[in-house]
Amino acid sequence: MEQLLKENKAWIDSYWDKTVAKLRKTTLSSRYKLPRWSVDGVYDDRTQEDVGTWTNAFWPGINWLMYYATGENDFRTTAEISEKLLDEALKDYLNLTHDAGFLWLLSACANYRITGNEDSKNRALHAAASLASRYNLAGQFIKAWPGEHAGYVIIDCMMNIPLLYWAAKEADNVAFKQIAMSHADTCLKNHIRSDGSVNHVVDYDIHTGECLGPAVHGQGYNSQWSSWTRGQSWAIYGYTLSYLHTGEQRYLDAAKKVAHYFIAAAAARDYVVSSDFRAPDQEQMDSSAAAIAACGLIEIAKVVPEYEKKMYMTAALKLMKKLCETQCDFSDDDEAIVKFTTGSYNTFVHVSYIFGDYFFVEALCKLKGCDILLW
Ligand code: GLY
Repeated sequence: MEQLLKENKAWIDSYWDKTVAKLRKTTLSSRYKLPRWSVDGVYDDRTQEDVGTWTNAFWPGINWLMYYATGENDFRTTAEISEKLLDEALKDYLNLTHDAGFLWLLSACANYRITGNEDSKNRALHAAASLASRYNLAGQFIKAWPGEHAGYVIIDCMMNIPLLYWAAKEADNVAFKQIAMSHADTCLKNHIRSDGSVNHVVDYDIHTGECLGPAVHGQGYNSQWSSWTRGQSWAIYGYTLSYLHTGEQRYLDAAKKVAHYFIAAAAARDYVVSSDFRAPDQEQMDSSAAAIAACGLIEIAKVVPEYEKKMYMTAALKLMKKLCETQCDFSDDDEAIVKFTTGSYNTFVHVSYIFGDYFFVEALCKLKGCDILLW
């Protein structure tokens, strides 16, 4: 793995320099915002509407990663401002969702991990308690959303449960970890298909816990059998994280199985990742799925035995190189870096969502060797 990183050092360093240079400006120009995507080259702001939307902590997340990597206080200041803005969402209990992980792992929890701030720890523990309260005992899952579709479970939540693993340790309460593992095991049974592809949404009877099968709602072409790429990448990284937090081999095996499917499908299109591997329009891209998968693949490469590492790291490098060379904007024309991210199949196609930037930056930090695991 060291050899591979050495061989690729020149391009990693050059894109790292461009990324840091761009973020030094953006952290100032968008300091008081919670961006979701860039519009006409400028990050929008969700502090007034949608303060609890799942994308709102990727901006503090980017800034914490940059602060950790560079030690520059501008990044820390922006991240701290974002964390306070998110308090409005934490106060709104009934509108909290399973996305408490995305929202507070990358803001308050990151602050606590990096600076030891006790207020931030407290915020993150409250968020974890809310996430744990979504657990359905009959079905052994964490429900995604309030209100309608209370039995819907989405693969994305595998990225949220690391908040529970963290809280189990910090609050010395094993129940958080038990809930996380129970959810991960239920998803292993009902989301991961035998060929390594992944169901996005699975529906359950909330009273009996019976699994009703893949739900109609989903962000891919067809929830029953298609393969929404961002969901595949959530599974790769999410199961890897569950392995890292628990040491349970079945989670690493699941991550590897989905990774093998993802790598084969991405290689078939020269590592340009479509928004759904099994949809008619393969020109519709989702660059965020490539960046998320790269993060997961690098973490898998770190933990598998020596002679397995190369396959995962090579695929991660190919995904990242393709992103750098064909799907990123390092100029000052646009505050966003990563282009061609897609919300759902045929909806919000080829926009610049902030989470594309976040996972791109995280993967680059990993390749540079100056990363901290915020999950
Ligand atoms: N977690 C929602 C999405 O990936 O679009």
